[in-house]
Amino acid sequence: MARAPATRYRCGTCGHETLKWLGRCPECGTWNSFHEYNVYQPRHGRSGLARGAGGAAGAGRAVDATGAAGTADAADAAWLDELEQELEQRISSGIGELDRVLGGGFVPGAAVVIGGEPGIGKSTLMLQAAAAAGLPTLYLSGEESPRQVALRAGRLGLRDTGIKVAAETELGRIDALLNTDRPQLVIVDSVQTLFAAELDAIAGGVTQVRACAQELTDWTRRSGAVLLMVAHVTKEGSIAGPKLLEHIVDAVLYFDHADNELRFLRAAKNRFGAIEEIGLFAMDERGLREVHDPASIFLVRRDGDVPAGIAAAPVFEGTRILIVELQALTVPAKSGVSRVFSDRIDSGRVSRVAAVLERHLGITFSDHDIYVNVAGGMRIAEVGVELPLAVALYSARTGRPVPSQTIVSGELSLAGEVRPVRQVDRRVRTAAELGYTRFFAPPPAPGETRSVSANAVASLADCIRVVFGGSAKQLRGRASE
Ligand code: TYD
Ligand code: MG
Repeated sequence: MARAPATRYRCGTCGHETLKWLGRCPECGTWNSFHEYNVYQPRHGRSGLARGAGGAAGAGRAVDATGAAGTADAADAAWLDELEQELEQRISSGIGELDRVLGGGFVPGAAVVIGGEPGIGKSTLMLQAAAAAGLPTLYLSGEESPRQVALRAGRLGLRDTGIKVAAETELGRIDALLNTDRPQLVIVDSVQTLFAAELDAIAGGVTQVRACAQELTDWTRRSGAVLLMVAHVTKEGSIAGPKLLEHIVDAVLYFDHADNELRFLRAAKNRFGAIEEIGLFAMDERGLREVHDPASIFLVRRDGDVPAGIAAAPVFEGTRILIVELQALTVPAKSGVSRVFSDRIDSGRVSRVAAVLERHLGITFSDHDIYVNVAGGMRIAEVGVELPLAVALYSARTGRPVPSQTIVSGELSLAGEVRPVRQVDRRVRTAAELGYTRFFAPPPAPGETRSVSANAVASLADCIRVVFGGSAKQLRGRASE
């Protein structure tokens, strides 16, 4: 059912397509970047051209609930109830941390992209997930030879996996393979190695990556299988990376690492679930190990006294609580202008907390550079980090260490008040399990009941006074010297 090729123009820089030649790309602003090409005709009719004409670019399209193979070009409607049922039919990946990020497991017919830097462990995760899910799997390996994949499976101790490996990267032959093999799980490693022979563009470029991902996603929707596509992110930020596929697929997960062997999996997009949950793994010689109880993984254990500038904070990461160590350092500003160096906590937030300390406690930061770090390399965006951050900054600036076994949680208003944070009870309990004995938290919100006892602190000045003890003059300590 081949159609006559239609002529279009495409920007060689960003891939933007138009019907007429343009001197300057309206999308990315590059001059003289348009070249003529023949429109690629998808084998299944419902992608590519149809999408281009409709202009919807596939965004927000529902799952094909019928699961029928080879449907014709006509649009089809599905019962909402059936679609909802479909969503409930989750298939466990066999890896709890992956299921958590997916929102409860794979959804049949869904396409998922796994992005991350080379070497982070994407292939390892794919292989372990394929083995653990136990579905008939086709592993399309364009990066490594099937022998290398088998070697890795051996190293990971994976046997009797039901995984077939093919080193196929050409879309037409992959299509044939899918239609004879009918796998329930398809892994593409990586999407940047795929190409459609009829497309006049290089593998790994915007055009090929987008067209191949679209066609495989369409196949997946029709077949009811699950598609996992690995997409590399390079340090230079390749334009044909996971971001490009966000509007085509159902979920985009990123694999990232902290300072050590820990790996985080987070969703940047998930049509079938929340994106707040993260998955935690540790990489060792046996592959990726799930971290089920992460509360203490970022804690720094010390013999003896805690130095000044250190404060512990219980923070929510999705629905779980982690106890993290905040580290602050202040030094006289070299340039005469105060600067904030903080990439784990938004530096705007650090400046704001320092300004509140300056205004309400008279601790000056305006002539100091501020460095803030979170031990273990976790990025923290939760508001409850503000009060412990203030404590760490105060401690750093005055040289007074935070008394041991102390933990603080709370949001800070510009007026120096401590604002409520959610689930103080759980934060305190988690900290108590890890040996903390002194808890400082916002007063209970109206209607909030607490089963644990935490010292209520209503303002920053209150908090600093009860955490560190001493008079207002003493509180200013070395900072006023
Ligand atoms: P890999 O899955 O190949 O990363 P990606 O597909 O994202 O490029 O794994 C990357 C690194 O992980 C590799 O350098 C070796 C290491 N590794 C382990 O430490 N333990 C293991 O069991 C495996 C398989 C890999
Ligand atoms: Mg790989």
